[in-house]
Amino acid sequence: MIEVESVYYDYNGHSALVDVSVSFKNGNIYVLMGENGAGKSTLLKHLNGILKPKSGRVLVDGVDTREATVAELCRKIGLVFQNPELQFFCETVFKEVAFGPENLGLDSVMVKSRVENALRVVGLTGFEERVPWSLSGGEMRRLALASILSMEPKYLALDEPTVGQDRFSKENLKALIWRFKGMGKSVIIATHDIEWVYDLKPDVIILMSHGRIVAQGPPWEILNDTELLKKCNLVRPILLTLCDSLKLPLKSSTPSVTELAREIRKRIGEKFVLSRGF
Ligand SMILES: Nc1ncnc2c1ncn2[C@@H]1O[C@H](COP(=O)(O)OP(=O)(O)O)[C@@H](O)[C@H]1O
Ligand SMILES: [Mg+2]
Repeated sequence: MIEVESVYYDYNGHSALVDVSVSFKNGNIYVLMGENGAGKSTLLKHLNGILKPKSGRVLVDGVDTREATVAELCRKIGLVFQNPELQFFCETVFKEVAFGPENLGLDSVMVKSRVENALRVVGLTGFEERVPWSLSGGEMRRLALASILSMEPKYLALDEPTVGQDRFSKENLKALIWRFKGMGKSVIIATHDIEWVYDLKPDVIILMSHGRIVAQGPPWEILNDTELLKKCNLVRPILLTLCDSLKLPLKSSTPSVTELAREIRKRIGEKFVLSRGF
């Protein structure tokens, strides 16, 4: 479990986190949402110790991040940055993904198997000899993810992972996140992509604004609170807006397209029957 306790952080006097307290339990998917500059990336960087709190503390499995090196923390928490291309320093995709497991001291057979597995999971098999900087933006993001997955971290933190990804890659990412959850690991994602979040069905959504956590709860609670979302510069998912406009009484407060379509069909049927005077 990761515990963030009353953390304050500023960049040379510019406040970025204000009294942030939150815990990330194993086996859960967390999504951090909020306007640009809300503090999401700053919070993620506190989890693997790249940034240390100015006051308050962050505990990873009970260890204060101030008392552990970034290298130690990175074995546990894999963070994929918002600008992954800044993360690359090897001349081939293979070497980039192999770097982490090699540093863990694994033998070459094990390293090769980890690299192959990570590249397959992100859909980059066949890219092994490419130069990382020659990849497209979306492919670079997936390479950055592969280089983290090859370390097999216990916690996965993803900063804006859907940027530049097509529908197939977003679906793939969703499946990967759920596989992580299935293994009892936790995933913490910062994103603006509310439609993808709706589809992802995380356990908890944490809303941030101006460096503070303003709300946290399950998707049905957070995504149905229009005022709260507006405060964080977010727009409600289209399906929920549609449900409201149609005044549909639904069993689920976060319905799927199928459930919504079924309900609409039922309504159209009723109206049709009534208009015929039956
Ligand atoms: N390296 C930096 N130097 C100075 N200010 C920064 C730096 N990184 C972020 N900030 C500022 O800190 C605040 C929080 O930024 P950030 O955590 O990147 O927000 P988000 O990821 O939610 O968009 C913003 O006001 C941003 O301008
Ligand atoms: Mg950010």
